[in-house]
Amino acid sequence: MTLDLFADASDDPKEESASSLQARAENLRKLLHHHGHCYYTLDAPEVPDAVYDRLFQALQKIEQDHPEQRRSDSPTQRVGGAVLPAFESVRHAVPMLSIRTETDTESSGAKAFDARVRRELNLPEDAPALEYVAELKFDGLAMSLRYEQGILVQAATRGDGENGEDVTHNIRTVGQIPLQLPPGVPDVLEVRGEVYMRRDHFNQLNERQSAKIEQGAKGEKTFVNPRNAAAGAVRQLDSSIAAQRPLSFFAYGLGEAQPANAQQALFKTHYDMLQTLKSWGFPVASQTACVLGLEGLVDFHQKIAAQRDCLPFDIDGVVYKVNSLALQAQLGFVTREPRWAVAHKYPAQEALTTVLAIDVQVGRTGKLTPVAKLTPVFVGGVTVTNATLHNEDEARRKDVRVGDTVIVRRAGDVIPEVVSVLLDKRQPQAAIFTMPRICPVCASVAERDEGEVDFRCSGGLFCSAQRKQAVLHFAQRRAVEIEGLGDKLVDQLVDAGLVKTLPDLYQMSLSALSQLDRMAEKSALNLLKALETSKSTTLARFVFGLGIRHVGEATAKEFARHFGTLDALMQASQARLLEVSDVGPVVAHSVRTFFDQAHNLEVVEQLRACGVHWPEGPPAARVAQILSGMSIVLTGTLPTLEREQAKEMLEAAGAKVVGSVSKKTSYVVAGEQAGSKLEKAQALGLPVLDEAGLLRLLSGDVT
Ligand code: IVH
Repeated sequence: MTLDLFADASDDPKEESASSLQARAENLRKLLHHHGHCYYTLDAPEVPDAVYDRLFQALQKIEQDHPEQRRSDSPTQRVGGAVLPAFESVRHAVPMLSIRTETDTESSGAKAFDARVRRELNLPEDAPALEYVAELKFDGLAMSLRYEQGILVQAATRGDGENGEDVTHNIRTVGQIPLQLPPGVPDVLEVRGEVYMRRDHFNQLNERQSAKIEQGAKGEKTFVNPRNAAAGAVRQLDSSIAAQRPLSFFAYGLGEAQPANAQQALFKTHYDMLQTLKSWGFPVASQTACVLGLEGLVDFHQKIAAQRDCLPFDIDGVVYKVNSLALQAQLGFVTREPRWAVAHKYPAQEALTTVLAIDVQVGRTGKLTPVAKLTPVFVGGVTVTNATLHNEDEARRKDVRVGDTVIVRRAGDVIPEVVSVLLDKRQPQAAIFTMPRICPVCASVAERDEGEVDFRCSGGLFCSAQRKQAVLHFAQRRAVEIEGLGDKLVDQLVDAGLVKTLPDLYQMSLSALSQLDRMAEKSALNLLKALETSKSTTLARFVFGLGIRHVGEATAKEFARHFGTLDALMQASQARLLEVSDVGPVVAHSVRTFFDQAHNLEVVEQLRACGVHWPEGPPAARVAQILSGMSIVLTGTLPTLEREQAKEMLEAAGAKVVGSVSKKTSYVVAGEQAGSKLEKAQALGLPVLDEAGLLRLLSGDVT
């Protein structure tokens, strides 16, 4: 295989001898199969896209000009084109079974399975732990891929398990599915697995669909979720449409194999079989693990639960399978389910509910946020009653209206969101949502500045909603930390008129506090004590607590380090502010504007007069910053250092500690039970340090 293949691409293939043409077509197919596998399955392309395209076009030209050179397993067949009148029915030689599902979300699901298997195998109590394969339960569609003499000849859906539909024309467009297998595979081989759509591909597809709808295209729609989009793509009669819907595949089992003893001869365990499928070019999920006994299953269930939200695709649980194929045969089936496998589900992350109202909330900086109030629904392990619609544009884009039936998603700790509206359930009179032009709390004018997405209440601290948020911000743990001052109490203090500005907090008397509803003297005393404690703080916490727009915790720390004293910061010109690392014009302008306003200076002075204080010193030397410019991710539990300690040490040395791993991350510091972040770091080839490595880095030992 040489690069001659390209050179020939533009020549007239008619002049070539038939045998050389055939050899060249075969070579091109081989090369394209190889590069396609690298690109789609291994996610590690070896050549630029343009090179692939030229090879592809060369093969396409040969096949066009010489129909006798066309092959059903040619990579050119992936682009689709065939339009079918209807799907043919396919009888599965080996039925496609379903798996029993344990619906409880605790480890008892795994326990019940392990106990059942051991009982069915008549194992004594003290028999050693069984070996299982633990897999992900992909949320897509089951597919059976039939290879004859190593060539993909048929792809069929599960259907009712006995008979499915022939969707070969669409499945050929899936780049991750091999069209041909290496020599030495059984004469007939059915590979079973799941066709699915990755979340990022799903989002891109829906964006393209929305754009088409906006441009007035008829018959287009957006998809509810990746599963639904994948199912739609697989069941397209026109394969060129399927080709535009990016699908992926994971193999997890086998159907028919011939000769009859092929399976037993090739592998002894399910895990071996999966490894072999991988070596033949099928994608097998990297999370798939061979584990021992109940403990192994429970660990896997927990580990995957923690990683679930970081996976690039949806899963709805995990699947446990007995590893030994001999034991699988011994266990057999009950009705349509194997006794050797079970699915152990996680709580659903999406649910249907209805929108009761769309409220508009006012934030600390006056930002108005539309929030959908929902009929309570259990999703992602909690009851959800609210979902933010972020801003007017977003609310309009999703076109959520009061009375709508919506899909709500809550993945992990991510705040719940409305994914989409079921338009066919919309009431005809449902009105489009519009942002109010006045603040719903204080009735001041609400404005949306040019280039901004948010409406803001112009009431400033006149607006009680902004006052409440400002107090909560100041009182939070990362600011001056006033223990016990939560949102309920702040509501009371502001509503009773006790707190109008931050300094009022420090001027409340025991008697005034005790008169509040549900405020016993003891709680009032506790609050006063907490207020007293909060007076002793740091410059960074104080500056952060002021709630200056665009000044987060890290920026406040940077200011404190750079200027050393509050007066130096308050007096700094924009030019001086810009000298601070990571401070740009937006932040500098915001800080300057804040300290240019008399009422803000008054607040600061009064707080100082009330006794709020912090150590001040000369500006910190910049030279000590050995890790400046580095971005570091901490993950897992370190043996001796607390996460917060490690963070502080790194920041003190000038590094930025960030939450997610990317190509720009300088180091990942990983402790016990580091999960997906560590995996991502390894996948990206980033340097990974343990605690000892971290300490060496801080001492300047590692570069
Ligand atoms: S094995 C004989 N493994 O779950 C066992 N199924 O009810 C056959 N699924 O529709 C299935 N991930 O599409 C198996 N790792 C996995 C799976 C999996 C998802 C789906 C499958 C089928 C359903 C089984």
